[in-house]
Amino acid sequence: MEHLRINGAYWGLTTLDILGKLAAVDQETVISWVMSCQHESGGFGGNEGHDPHLLYTLSAIQILALFNKIDTLDIEKVSNYISTLQNEDGSFSGDKWGEIDTRFSYVAICSLALLKQLDKINVEKAVKYIVSCKNLDGGFGCTPGAESHAGQIFCCIGALAITGCLHYVDKDLLGWWLCERQVKSGGLNGRPEKLPDVCYSWWVLSSLIVIDRVHWIDKEKLVKFILNCQDKENGGISDRPDDAVDVFHTYFGVAGLSLLEYPGLKAIDPAYALPVDVINRIFLH
Ligand code: FPP
Ligand code: ZN
Repeated sequence: MEHLRINGAYWGLTTLDILGKLAAVDQETVISWVMSCQHESGGFGGNEGHDPHLLYTLSAIQILALFNKIDTLDIEKVSNYISTLQNEDGSFSGDKWGEIDTRFSYVAICSLALLKQLDKINVEKAVKYIVSCKNLDGGFGCTPGAESHAGQIFCCIGALAITGCLHYVDKDLLGWWLCERQVKSGGLNGRPEKLPDVCYSWWVLSSLIVIDRVHWIDKEKLVKFILNCQDKENGGISDRPDDAVDVFHTYFGVAGLSLLEYPGLKAIDPAYALPVDVINRIFLH
């Protein structure tokens, strides 16, 4: 976990917020640690002294958003770092070493939207690249021609939702591919023939909600599957029943239950992956 500690912080803190327990952590300590992960380029590393990457930069912004502290950032500097990673064809590299993936398109678009700096990039080209990753089955992969994968679909649908470009999506075709991810146990998998996994309760469900096809799966069975993955002694959630728990699956299990309107949980926004009240605080002010 050392190199992606800031992702872990986002998963853990967002879970706490959905549960109404964010006050359980010391806000000042968290924020000063997050800021200590910033690199002189403006991007954030996964931990103190680590190289910057778009994946960690979004987590830093999301954590600050949870605490209503986005103004701690030098917004110009962070958004310049993100914009320099856009390539000529509209795609994004994750860092200066150049790997390209639709995950990075999502992360760049989500980060800049939260900072209200989308005009720093060529949004039209960014969208064109994402659309070029659409497959004949209605899904999306990590690069043009790559296999459809529910994690990449979340990224592409989230980015298209944030930029107001969902008209490029064949909702019925994609909705059908996504609802076929539900297996007999009620859980969801990420690709055909794979085992169900709690984190796909997020990747698949958030996409189904954004394209308005969530009624195509059996929600009650999915709730039961997620609850079956909780370790009743220590509280955490695992990828599937009886496996070891971790903070990643605990977050996506709780976030999935929130999307399923499970009682007692805050609502989460399916495109920004932050509580709805946090998103409203940013965009309605
Ligand atoms: C599956 O990964 C998930 C993905 C490919 C999507 C990852 C998305 C991001 C990092 C964007 C930021 C996300 C949020 C919620 C703000 P996996 O490696 O577990 O896939 P596998 O199940 O095929 O092994
Ligand atoms: Zn998983």
